[in-house]
Amino acid sequence: MRIPLNRESTLPLYKQIQGFLQDQIQSGGLAPKSRLPASRELATSLGVGRLTVINAYEELEAQGLIYGMRGNGMFVASPPEMPGEIPVDDAPTWLERQLPPPWVSSSQQLDELIASAARPGLISFAEGGGDSSLFPLGDFRTALRLVLRDQGREALAYGESSGYKPLLATIAQILTAQGIPALPDQVLITSGSQQAVGLVMRLLVRPGDAVLAESPTHMGFIDLCRSLNASLIEVPVDEQGMRVDLVEALLRRHHPRLIYTVPNFQNPTGACLNSQRRRQLLALAESYQVPLVEDDFVGDLRYRGAAQPALKALDRGGAVIYVSTFSKMLIPSLRIGFLVTTRPVLSRLLALKHTSDVATSNLTQRVLEAYITVGRYQACLRRLRHSFGQRRNTMLAALSRYMPPGTRWTTPSGGLFIWLQLPGGLSADAFFPTAGKAGVIYAPGSFFFYDGCPRPLLRLNFARQPPEIIEEGINRLGSALSEYISTGRANR
Ligand SMILES: Cc1ncc(COP(=O)(O)O)c(C=O)c1O
Repeated sequence: MRIPLNRESTLPLYKQIQGFLQDQIQSGGLAPKSRLPASRELATSLGVGRLTVINAYEELEAQGLIYGMRGNGMFVASPPEMPGEIPVDDAPTWLERQLPPPWVSSSQQLDELIASAARPGLISFAEGGGDSSLFPLGDFRTALRLVLRDQGREALAYGESSGYKPLLATIAQILTAQGIPALPDQVLITSGSQQAVGLVMRLLVRPGDAVLAESPTHMGFIDLCRSLNASLIEVPVDEQGMRVDLVEALLRRHHPRLIYTVPNFQNPTGACLNSQRRRQLLALAESYQVPLVEDDFVGDLRYRGAAQPALKALDRGGAVIYVSTFSKMLIPSLRIGFLVTTRPVLSRLLALKHTSDVATSNLTQRVLEAYITVGRYQACLRRLRHSFGQRRNTMLAALSRYMPPGTRWTTPSGGLFIWLQLPGGLSADAFFPTAGKAGVIYAPGSFFFYDGCPRPLLRLNFARQPPEIIEEGINRLGSALSEYISTGRANR
């Protein structure tokens, strides 16, 4: 085969060979299934090193243009078949007959709203997660390599539905050290804490049943209620967390199947349930025999004040199902969360878990376990607390500096979020496009209420951006808001 090579060119020789062969394959000059010359043979005929040809072949293989057959050399791949007709993509009749009109989850809607605002230089305080530049990438790469090297075959099998035993033991140990006594077989690993709460809901809630939760609350929980046709009974939140003084009357009136609470640095308000209310809520759950789902999604991210006891730590009768996750304190794409409950409850949840996804990724659990046991997790938490604590302070100071009079916001002692109230009852949904044009976005408060109605409330994530970007973003937000008010656009 003759391939013209320009040895003076800055384009590496292997790229020239790859480009020539790619053109030949795509123009049909080299027919599908035809055999390419062996790398040694082609290297000799072109007067280049064999590695140069191997690199060119590897690039072509990665492009799907050629394939190797063990011991037989490399062959030209057939082009992918294009469908002759456009496949049917309308809703089939059975779908409309069997199901009510579709609803779109709040999480999807917020993702779409964020995507619609995308523009160069936009500063976003809208998302729910931490800062990806702080993920411990190198440590995870090492842990993954070690697991594949030392436990490769076991790690690639399904694994047990309840979770990888050493990880269950490690989680039980961490919780016990935090005052939440737990045995490894009282822990169930789940694919994120969303699955943990979803399993509990599937176990306990039937269409039309009531469940009780803070208002506003985590939109993933609102979506779960909608998907199960459960009615959400809302309990208002103030700076001290859920208004527990209102709960008893609601329990009597609505007989909810469960109470869902985020006691530490609640999403979206950042409020932390005070210790007296924790005891009162638990006492109510016990006396009315209603299970209490405690979602502790960022409990370890405290920057100020002393830790409050977990509801689970106070629980003597098994009322509390404790749920947590590594999504916010470590890496969201691990999709590893867990729940802690008594063994009889756990065995029922385990049966549901099996029907849901068989098991949470065994490989990922082993990597996480390897990462935690070398002591990296605690170090990572210390780093996050330091960075996020600084960012919280920066955002609070910037809000004081730039927000127009009448704006109010919470002062969280941990977590990820500040909850802000716009002056004069302005709708945060209506103001969103103006803020987006000014180069800053947030999560409108309507996403965190069951009725989804516009409100003068919004959530700011202070953990995701470095301090100088936070300063600039809040400056933009304050200026845009002041202008919005002064030009009267708010009243239109
Ligand atoms: C209250 C609450 N719980 C849990 C989660 C995390 O869910 P997962 O563990 O499924 O990533 C979130 C994420 O936003 C949350 O806000």
